[in-house]
Amino acid sequence: MEVVILPGNRQIASLAADAVQALLRRKPEAVLGLATGSSPLPIYDELAARHERGLLDFSRVHGFLLDEYVGLEPGHPESYREVIRRDFADRVNIPPDNVHGPDGSAPDIPAACRAYEDAIRESGGVDLQLLGLGTDGHIGFNEPGSSLASRTRIKTLIEQTRRDNARFFGSLTEVPHHVLTQGLGTILESRHAVLVATGAQKAQAVHDLIEGPVAAVCPASVLQLHPHASILIDEAAASSL
Ligand code: GLP
Repeated sequence: MEVVILPGNRQIASLAADAVQALLRRKPEAVLGLATGSSPLPIYDELAARHERGLLDFSRVHGFLLDEYVGLEPGHPESYREVIRRDFADRVNIPPDNVHGPDGSAPDIPAACRAYEDAIRESGGVDLQLLGLGTDGHIGFNEPGSSLASRTRIKTLIEQTRRDNARFFGSLTEVPHHVLTQGLGTILESRHAVLVATGAQKAQAVHDLIEGPVAAVCPASVLQLHPHASILIDEAAASSL
């Protein structure tokens, strides 16, 4: 696991975009794992800017969302499929059909989760997985207690995560209780995991992720087992190391 402490979002986004650019040069048909939350936004801005300058071509790329809310109607502005469309897909030339997400409105949720795992596998697997970090140490929506070997499945959000994410909704009551998320075992199979975290509110989770034991109480700590994980953080997020 490499840990890189950078001055701020601009430098973090630049380094993450460099990794994407190097990957696409080597493999134009690469598979990207797409994270939501506010942390990856500067990366999407940078990728869109580089695409605009002709440096990045996403025409053969496939993207797989990390997670999705359960029960939001299709097209809901806060469904992660919509968020990724707005923040990333519509700003680059990735074909819309190449963007995949777990189906949070499927009538048969376990079948939808299995189908999602199959789709990732059939794509050849995720080459570069972007990740944010929850204040409770979650990645994707793998809350504390998640099995380190877990696959895509339904999870119940803890109150802290619902409160953290309430800023994207009108009120706390509108934040869904259930989500679908790639499992920790799924994430571990990505070829390169790039986690970004900034701000003092992430310092404890960053500490547990990097210096704590590999344990389900801090799901992100599973990245210690990842063969190629890059942790890109700012000084504030690194302040408890
Ligand atoms: C949500 C997402 C996570 C993300 C986390 C942190 O819970 N499901 O993938 O890492 O938010 O969000 P932020 O980057 O806004 O702090």
